[in-house]
Amino acid sequence: MSGSNARSFIPLLGVLLGVFLCASGFMGSGVPFRRKVTLELNPGLKLSNAAPPEFDLLHVRALGENDTLHFFLCSKGAPAVLLVHTNSTESSVQVDWPTFVILNSTGGLRVVPESSVQYSRALVFTRLLEYDDVNNTAEPQDFLPPYDLKDFAWSDLNSTVDYTFHAALLCGKDHSSTFRNGSFCLDFSAFESGGREEAWPSLLHSANSSQLHVWLEGVTPRANQSRFSLELQMVSEVGFQDRVDVQRFIDDEYTPSIFQVSQWVSSPVNSSSVRGFMQWKPIAYRKRVPMLEDATPCRNSQPVPLAQPPPSGLISAYFTHNPVTSGINISFSLAEDPFYGSTKFLSWTVLIGMGTPPSDSFSPLVIGIMAVGLGTPLALIVVGGVYVCIRKRRDQQLGYQPIN
Ligand SMILES: *[C@@H]1O[C@H](CO)[C@@H](O)[C@H](O)[C@H]1NC(C)=O
Ligand SMILES: *[C@@H]1O[C@H](CO)[C@@H](O)[C@H](O)[C@H]1NC(C)=O
Ligand SMILES: *[C@@H]1O[C@H](CO)[C@@H](O)[C@H](O)[C@H]1NC(C)=O
Ligand SMILES: *[C@@H]1O[C@H](CO)[C@@H](O)[C@H](O)[C@H]1NC(C)=O
Ligand SMILES: *[C@@H]1O[C@H](CO)[C@@H](O)[C@H](O)[C@H]1NC(C)=O
Ligand SMILES: *[C@@H]1O[C@H](CO)[C@@H](O)[C@H](O)[C@H]1NC(C)=O
Ligand SMILES: *[C@@H]1O[C@H](CO)[C@@H](O)[C@H](O)[C@H]1NC(C)=O
Ligand SMILES: *[C@@H]1O[C@H](CO)[C@@H](O)[C@H](O)[C@H]1NC(C)=O
Ligand SMILES: *[C@@H]1O[C@H](CO)[C@@H](O)[C@H](O)[C@H]1NC(C)=O
Ligand SMILES: *[C@@H]1O[C@H](CO)[C@@H](O)[C@H](O)[C@H]1NC(C)=O
Repeated sequence: MSGSNARSFIPLLGVLLGVFLCASGFMGSGVPFRRKVTLELNPGLKLSNAAPPEFDLLHVRALGENDTLHFFLCSKGAPAVLLVHTNSTESSVQVDWPTFVILNSTGGLRVVPESSVQYSRALVFTRLLEYDDVNNTAEPQDFLPPYDLKDFAWSDLNSTVDYTFHAALLCGKDHSSTFRNGSFCLDFSAFESGGREEAWPSLLHSANSSQLHVWLEGVTPRANQSRFSLELQMVSEVGFQDRVDVQRFIDDEYTPSIFQVSQWVSSPVNSSSVRGFMQWKPIAYRKRVPMLEDATPCRNSQPVPLAQPPPSGLISAYFTHNPVTSGINISFSLAEDPFYGSTKFLSWTVLIGMGTPPSDSFSPLVIGIMAVGLGTPLALIVVGGVYVCIRKRRDQQLGYQPIN
């Protein structure tokens, strides 16, 4: 009897495990959401009679079934990424180049028809801040004169746009001698569907977001114990408010040692629905190829409202109706971490997108472990219960037999 019970136990456990693993396999799948992505450099620019502008404008069209997501990357002034979501598949971009090229001009860029625009938001990289961490506490203070990214000389996108993989690289340098061998780079990628890059931090992306991998390489530190912070500004239409949220996980499989993700979200005033986001993991890497031993945490300040929009040509060209601006500082490293000068390299990755930010689900490995951990006791309880029942009935039947 106990032998037959053991035989029925094994298939039952198998079935339970199978159910758990199948459920994990199908989780998050279904029909994957896709967009058709096309890139265009300097849309509508005719060079017949004029010199080429001293900056580039990259336009990315990510066409959905009933909507279009436009991304712009521009190096006029401080480098910026603008996202415009329209509820039309026909929306297009109009650049008034004679206006757009003028310093401080406004209104040179439109997405038409304007009535189709549902949401606009921009991320601007404004300043690099360096400080001498004399006490090795990584408390940003006593800043050296900041590097103003609006004054950097930026490379042309022409030679780096990858029309196949929807990517472009923008690198800039300051005119000072400390940047002679240095550069600050923004590696932009747009996506046709969901996924994650293999290299850490392996952020989960969707077709509703694009990614910026940012790095600072080869700059001569101006102090013996230099650390850096990065100032970011966010611009949106009036009627939106923003905040930085932190989401925690129990699983760090995709980004070792990191159990949380930070997201700078914007929602309409008096509403909790998130319309757009910037999302990052609080980790930077001190070498070009990210390894665990070169990882260094980063922290962000809370967003502060700013009176002036950032000095980006893209912002003044697109946001003509008193946009709302706020800013945060991301500071890299913790106390006792190696200083910038040890590797002269620092990289960080951020996602910019519309709608709710992507959220990591449990990885298949963790789900498998949970299935075994939860499934085995469950199976034992069920099997035990069944065994006791059968045993009871058998005993009862056996008990009646002698009377008959
Ligand atoms: C697009 O619009 C059509 C018709 O209006 C609708 O049936 C479909 O569900 C929409 N698709 C999406 C992805 O919203
Ligand atoms: C134009 O831009 C320059 C440099 O950014 C600034 O100093 C100047 O005040 C601006 N002029 C106007 C009229 O906004
Ligand atoms: C797009 O949104 C506007 C309002 O923002 C609305 O008037 C229009 O009907 C919408 N178009 C479609 C095709 O949903
Ligand atoms: C460094 O530590 C010394 C002694 O504790 C203190 O006087 C000084 O203010 C600290 N400097 C900074 C920049 O924190
Ligand atoms: C872009 O690059 C191509 C070839 O690399 C060149 O023919 C073209 O003139 C360049 N355009 C601009 C605006 O620099
Ligand atoms: C830049 O690199 C060259 C060659 O690698 C080196 O000789 C020079 O000292 C470096 N300059 C700075 C400012 O680091
Ligand atoms: C992307 O945005 C579209 C349109 O708002 C929405 O239907 C879709 O569910 C979103 N996809 C993801 C993966 O967030
Ligand atoms: C850096 O350290 C060296 C030796 O430790 C010292 O001579 C030099 O003055 C320091 N430089 C700065 C800018 O603090
Ligand atoms: C938001 O709520 C405040 C107070 O509840 C109200 O005065 C204001 O008009 C609301 N704003 C919007 C855009 O609904
Ligand atoms: C970033 O830090 C610098 C230096 O402390 C400060 O001047 C600036 O206001 C900060 N920016 C934001 C947006 O908090």
